[in-house]
Amino acid sequence: MLKVFKRLNAHEWALISISIALVVAQVITDLRIPGYMSTITRLIETEGSTMNEILRTGGMMLLMAVLSMLVMFCSGFVSSRLSAYFSRDLRNQIFHKVQTFSLEEIDRFSTASLITRSTNDVAQLQNFIAGGFTMIVNMPITVGIALSKMAGGHWQWTVLTTACVIIVLSVVIFVILYAHPRFRRMQVLTDNLNAVTRENMTGIRVIRAYNAAGYQMDKFTERNDTLTKNQTQAQRAMTVMRPTMRFTQNILTIGIYCIGAAIISRSSSTEALTTFSTMVVFSNYAARILFSIQSLNMIFNQIPRVTVCANRINEVLETDVKVKSGTDTENDASKEGTIEFRNVSFRYPDSEEDVIHDISFTANKGETVAFIGATGSGKTSLVNLVPRFYDATGGQVLIDGKDVREYDLKTLHNKIGYTPQRAVLFTGTVYSNVNYGENNNTYNEAEAFEAVKDAVRIAQAKDFVEEKEDGYFTFISRGGTNVSGGQKQRISIARSVFRKPEIYIFDDTFGALDYKTDRTLRAALKEETAGVTTLIVAQRIGTIRDADKILVLDDGEIVGMGTHDELMKTCMIYREIAYTQMSEEELA
Ligand SMILES: Nc1ncnc2c1ncn2[C@@H]1O[C@H](COP(=O)(O)OP(=O)(O)OP(=O)(O)O)[C@@H](O)[C@H]1O
Ligand SMILES: [Mg+2]
Repeated sequence: MLKVFKRLNAHEWALISISIALVVAQVITDLRIPGYMSTITRLIETEGSTMNEILRTGGMMLLMAVLSMLVMFCSGFVSSRLSAYFSRDLRNQIFHKVQTFSLEEIDRFSTASLITRSTNDVAQLQNFIAGGFTMIVNMPITVGIALSKMAGGHWQWTVLTTACVIIVLSVVIFVILYAHPRFRRMQVLTDNLNAVTRENMTGIRVIRAYNAAGYQMDKFTERNDTLTKNQTQAQRAMTVMRPTMRFTQNILTIGIYCIGAAIISRSSSTEALTTFSTMVVFSNYAARILFSIQSLNMIFNQIPRVTVCANRINEVLETDVKVKSGTDTENDASKEGTIEFRNVSFRYPDSEEDVIHDISFTANKGETVAFIGATGSGKTSLVNLVPRFYDATGGQVLIDGKDVREYDLKTLHNKIGYTPQRAVLFTGTVYSNVNYGENNNTYNEAEAFEAVKDAVRIAQAKDFVEEKEDGYFTFISRGGTNVSGGQKQRISIARSVFRKPEIYIFDDTFGALDYKTDRTLRAALKEETAGVTTLIVAQRIGTIRDADKILVLDDGEIVGMGTHDELMKTCMIYREIAYTQMSEEELA
């Protein structure tokens, strides 16, 4: 957990110092109160003391109480400020780190868990710092001062107090041992609950259509119940604490007074008076010590859970990102856009076998290389290696003759216009979705708008965008749910065209379009983007027929490579695909 605190900045350290100083001041003022109490007791019992003296001491006592309250108020203010800033910074750091993650790390943590970690886990830490932190500082100071003030007491009292402290400490330790593993599980169970909630949100349409609300509800209830059960078990241990504390505290007070009474009954009147006033002070401090330990219990209530949360946050922040940026920021203009796969193999992090085996091919500048093959044959996995969503596990992927791993990631991504298999749109407008992210172009505002219009036109989205009332500033809702599948796909294509990249990657992008749009779009692209190297994944022979090179994939292996005509002669699998899609006349 301490590792997390290493991330505090100077401002936060300053707040911590102020907070500590305030707590010390508060404890000192607070602990002066019993001293005044004993003075008053003595004054009352001593003949000849005046009312004035008593009132003055009483006044001081009241003043200390008020001071202590004020300081406590300030310290609460400072620590809540500290916790709020700290958690804000932590959330920022997590978000920033997750941005650098490759898909591999995201797969490993799971999206649901990353969300819990950056929200719930941080909130737990925040609560702890707001409340528990001052207690941790408070406890040793209180106990230290109290012990020094108790030094003059009778040994019987000390023995009794020590015994009580031991009892209370044992209970605290027992509870910690019992609750810790349960609190550990609690965060994992929260992850699970989040996962169902997320699934429920993203899949809402299918859930409705298949009347699966009940099934989803059962899934949710099951996980919710498990979480609740775990929580009750952990909390049950905690419930033992409070009554035990109270009881011990009462026993201690009664014990001290009994012992005191016995001692007083055996001593002279002056001795009795001293014993009585020490007893008042002693029992007061003893109660405070127990109270401190009890507050320790409150902290320990939180510590197991907070430690778990802190570790989980650290795990994210300390993850060694597999896909590391290279240093090369150069563009070699003469070779712009050549792609070469040299004996490339790839295996997903937690799977047993390669999904791509020993693939080699070259796409020269301006060429279109197409990939076709059954679902699951590894097409997406293959093209994902170019922008380094994952790194090849064997062989090399080269762009312009250099291994992709040598490039600075930003430089690499600026070379590529990538359109994913499932179009992704972000909350905003058509314009903000097309003019998205950073690229190599240096447009001013007017030029950018023209470029957006151009990209939209090439992507065959002009008609439907301009038909809308707000045109290019039509609102796009989260995930693009207010446009059709094909429209979404076309905006996503426009986004890649807008970048004016060296390389296009279209991962089955045209599948969502009707045949006519598919054809006109490809014709427009060909015309407008001559000289740009294109990798295109497709299901339809029609889409890739004109490609310079077609690779037929089967189970991650190349089973055919060549032009359409060559493959029709040489590749059985290709021929089969072709005949299922087109009649012989069409193919001829
Ligand atoms: N994130 C992942 N982790 C583990 N295995 C994966 C992952 N993504 C895909 N796979 C597996 O890799 C294999 C190839 O998948 P890939 O997505 O590359 O196929 P594809 O050819 O693009 O299929 P489709 O035409 O359906 O898009 C499949 O067997 C799939 O189960
Ligand atoms: Mg795919």
